[in-house]
Amino acid sequence: MGDPRLLQVARPVERLGTPELQALITDMEDTMRALNGAGLAAPQIGVGLRVVIFGMAANPRYPDAEPVPRTVLVNPVITPLDEELEEGWEGCLSVPGMRGLVPRHLRLRYSGFDAEGGAIERSVEGFHARVVQHECDHLDGVLYPMRIRDLRNFGFTEVLFPGQILEDD
Ligand code: NI
Repeated sequence: MGDPRLLQVARPVERLGTPELQALITDMEDTMRALNGAGLAAPQIGVGLRVVIFGMAANPRYPDAEPVPRTVLVNPVITPLDEELEEGWEGCLSVPGMRGLVPRHLRLRYSGFDAEGGAIERSVEGFHARVVQHECDHLDGVLYPMRIRDLRNFGFTEVLFPGQILEDD
């Protein structure tokens, strides 16, 4: 946080299925794995393209949540399915060591493309929907602290959730 590249609107990927795109995705996957993240957007590694990855087998913050499938999403589009918002705790690899309570749409549809150009379209809710909104915000230069309604709900992970090991988005 503080790097101006995180505040810019990323450009659409113009050509799918290229070695350059695959190299970017591999770099992002390596970074996400090394940092124990639940998702990552290309601007977080300094690349201003509309590419996000996410996925997680299980999450201690959401013990009842469905697992989120490992997904590469290029040029994503999000459409909320209704007006309902839900507050939930988020972290971010670009804001290390912190958590904040963020309102997100509870249900949405998202579409986009995988690395080879295959179409992806899913209707999701809950934690899956939250992760997608968090990652796609990165493509528009938005970090989760900008969405916190009450900054009293923002703090250090080890103070808010002592003793817990949590993944970052
Ligand atoms: Ni993030």
